[in-house]
Amino acid sequence: MAANVVDPSVTAAPLALPERVPRHVAIIMDGNGRWAAARGLPRSEGHRQGTENLRTIIRAAVEFGVEILTIYAFSTENWGRPRREVRLLLKILEMVIDRELRELHSNGVQIRHIGELDGIPPGIQRKVIHACEYTRHNTRLILNVAFNYGGRDEIVHAVRRIVQDGIPSDSINEDLIASYLYTSGLPDPDLIIRTSGELRVSNFLIWQGSYSEYYATDTLWPDFNREQFLLALIDFSKRRRRFGLTAAQVEDDHDLSETLPS
Ligand code: IPE
Ligand code: IPE
Ligand code: MG
Repeated sequence: MAANVVDPSVTAAPLALPERVPRHVAIIMDGNGRWAAARGLPRSEGHRQGTENLRTIIRAAVEFGVEILTIYAFSTENWGRPRREVRLLLKILEMVIDRELRELHSNGVQIRHIGELDGIPPGIQRKVIHACEYTRHNTRLILNVAFNYGGRDEIVHAVRRIVQDGIPSDSINEDLIASYLYTSGLPDPDLIIRTSGELRVSNFLIWQGSYSEYYATDTLWPDFNREQFLLALIDFSKRRRRFGLTAAQVEDDHDLSETLPS
């Protein structure tokens, strides 16, 4: 048999879930428009297909044991898109809540919104608030939906509230600022995935992502399936996070107080 002919009796082994799964995964779901354009379809079709894909990825996150999944659905900059597209994206948010809330709830998903409610039409705001209230005791997966979210906007709002609360300047530290962000009380994302080949942050979790591992794939969001998600987790499991320390410090599990100057 020629060397490059694959023996059909040998099938590829299924990918195994790594031992070390990130607690908090955030995803920049990008590439819906290009997915549609590549098929000669309107952008709306890409958003529709991307929304379908979200169910697959939420299900996979539960299966893989991810505790927190944060999804970037609409940025503060996305308001600048054509009015029709903005209207469609708002409609999709409403439709997802209407259609999926019960199932998400029965699967133990706790929905949270990160971003500004102001600016979202009042009827949809009420649905978002209801979805968060309705699922607030669920513990299987926290799903942070970043809608009308911008990292800079989040920091501006945090600073305003810190000032309004009369916090004295010498009480302001990193923990305090973190407690005023939309993600208050949640650990920072361990892994941030971006689909569609773009290598930028696009104003997503700029505070919380300061030590996140980044993973970029050329796959467009509607095509990013369970297996690709698993590949990202496998890649993450091989990373060595150092948080500013030396490799030796991280590899040797010894007491840092012995090595750091006092
Ligand atoms: C991501 O897909 C969805 C949103 C930003 C709402 P895009 O709509 O950005 O798709 P591309 O980047 O134009 O392909
Ligand atoms: C980031 O994607 C926002 C979301 C995925 C919701 P964009 O498509 O808006 O980002 P840029 O414009 O390419 O940076
Ligand atoms: Mg895009």
